[in-house]
Amino acid sequence: MSKIGRIEVLDDGPLVAEGLDKLDNSKGDELGIKEKVALCRCGASGNKPYCDGSHKRIAFSSKVEKDKPGALSIDDGGNEIKVLKNGPYEVRGCLLDIKAPMGLSRDKPYYLCRCGASGNKPFCDGSHKTIQFSDEKN
Ligand code: FES
Repeated sequence: MSKIGRIEVLDDGPLVAEGLDKLDNSKGDELGIKEKVALCRCGASGNKPYCDGSHKRIAFSSKVEKDKPGALSIDDGGNEIKVLKNGPYEVRGCLLDIKAPMGLSRDKPYYLCRCGASGNKPFCDGSHKTIQFSDEKN
């Protein structure tokens, strides 16, 4: 039986992913994962995609309405996160601890903002293009 992947969206802070099978960047590199890993969602980390605490320095502000873990899940997706080039996290198979908006499907990936600029946090709304978010390393 495969383990359950979960993502917790911390108020004014990172995404905390637990039970991931895989974390890849846009270059196809497999990035290191521990049982729990904190991923930047403010866009300011100097160690992207990981959180380095910069959300405090920039006074990042984002609170989302919580729900029971499992509000959004894709059971057979493999607990994977892919860091998209200068864009969001593409997530498969992980439970999310917030209210899932209408229109999200259980059998498709969903996209979480990592630039800090989305008007629909924690989801990506395309604002990374407007602010020309850049993460050369990933
Ligand atoms: S990654 Fe932030 S809006 Fe897309």
